[in-house]
Amino acid sequence: MKVCVIGTGYVGLVTGVCLAEIGHNVICVDKDEKKISLLNIGKVPIYEQGLEEIVRKNRDSGNISFSRDVGYGIKNSDIIFISVGTPPLSTGKPDLSSLDEVAKLIGKSINGYKIVVNKSTVPIGTAKRIKKIIKENQDNDHSFDIVSNPEFLKEGEAVDDAFFPERLVIGSESKKAIDIMKELYGPIINQDFDYARANSHKKEKVPVLITDSTSSELIKYASNSFLASKISFINEIANLCERIGANILDVTYGMGLDTRIGTRFMKAGIGWGGSCFPKDVRALSYTAEEYGAGANILNAVIHVNNQQRFKVVQKAMDLLGIIDDKVIAVLGLSFKPNTNDTRETPSIAIINKFLELGAEVRVYDPVVKEYPSDMDKGAVMASDPYKASDKADLLVLVTEWDEFLNLDYGKIKKIMRSPNIIDGRNCLCKKSLTDMGFNYKGIGI
Ligand code: UGA
Repeated sequence: MKVCVIGTGYVGLVTGVCLAEIGHNVICVDKDEKKISLLNIGKVPIYEQGLEEIVRKNRDSGNISFSRDVGYGIKNSDIIFISVGTPPLSTGKPDLSSLDEVAKLIGKSINGYKIVVNKSTVPIGTAKRIKKIIKENQDNDHSFDIVSNPEFLKEGEAVDDAFFPERLVIGSESKKAIDIMKELYGPIINQDFDYARANSHKKEKVPVLITDSTSSELIKYASNSFLASKISFINEIANLCERIGANILDVTYGMGLDTRIGTRFMKAGIGWGGSCFPKDVRALSYTAEEYGAGANILNAVIHVNNQQRFKVVQKAMDLLGIIDDKVIAVLGLSFKPNTNDTRETPSIAIINKFLELGAEVRVYDPVVKEYPSDMDKGAVMASDPYKASDKADLLVLVTEWDEFLNLDYGKIKKIMRSPNIIDGRNCLCKKSLTDMGFNYKGIGI
């Protein structure tokens, strides 16, 4: 099928590549000239394992192409995926200006029956909004249908999540569009394509939920908000563990043995960040309040998370007393491992607080090498974890990169001024570090 994907961020690019890999003809468009130039030479502008290889393969086979011309993409496709950003405004309400702009362009360029698919997370009611804008901008009477088809991929595991999804959700009021979407995703639903055969770890069919567009939009927000709630819940329990002398690792394990609870998204730490959870929980809370349904749980989930990252700062104060002039090494800038994404990363909030308190901060991350624009001036980007730790009074681990699990902590202890470690992700071994002479503090252990 002929597909156009508008917006080449995480969701758009991975969707485009996935559809190309299963045999469709895909044009990915983006107004960002730099991104398109990079993609045209087979380079991926984001750090995502395995993605570049599949982009190159499909670019070379002609299954995927990249363009800045949105009108060209629309005119030459039957199915148009919208994957542009909807960043939060200060109220929590998502900014829909990019989405509206795309809908206008679709209206102006429509040259035959089209299916317009909302792939990125869009506010509840967007399917109806897009439909109205396209109609208002049409100067012909070509028909089109709108589909809500949310994406559930995780950064760092995006390729596998796209190829081997746990479910597909297709929300539409049009039977014709639903049937075409099922056909489009046929190889994914049946797990019958080359990449699956080569990497198969799941052979069963992927469940497909057909629903109305509003329910589909809510499934996405409610899923992300539920996962964020699990994390905030377990973080609150971790904080209680510290007060009463319990161990959150055992508590989580014991809870998780009940399959109704499970252990996934139950890792206590410094809280959730990234481009999705913070935006989506806020947006759902905004919508729930706007419609008078109440958002008590969602607001508590946000509140707990906002406080959680600063537990690390409190622990630093407990260990060091006055922070002014202390040297603090921070390991990790990305909001989680295996991505270079620093959007809403707890790390930057923590670093900014240490800087405000007068600390000398040295930061090391395995892939983030550019100074993030929202990080206050003054932190030093260290070229390796040992340079970051040299004469440090405290080492704070904020992102659980594999590299940090295998550092030479004996060497680190020797070069630090005082052997203090705060493990914001409970990923290091408390016993061996304590045996080595470190003052180790985790979260709830
Ligand atoms: C999240 C969802 O997991 C995806 O299903 C969804 O498609 C995506 O948002 C999206 O809406 O686009 P992502 O933001 O890439 O994916 O990252 P996650 O792996 O979900 O992690 C989110 C945050 O939760 C990270 O800051 C992570 O460190 C934190 N987390 C996760 C914990 O603190 N504890 C856990 O047990 C798990």
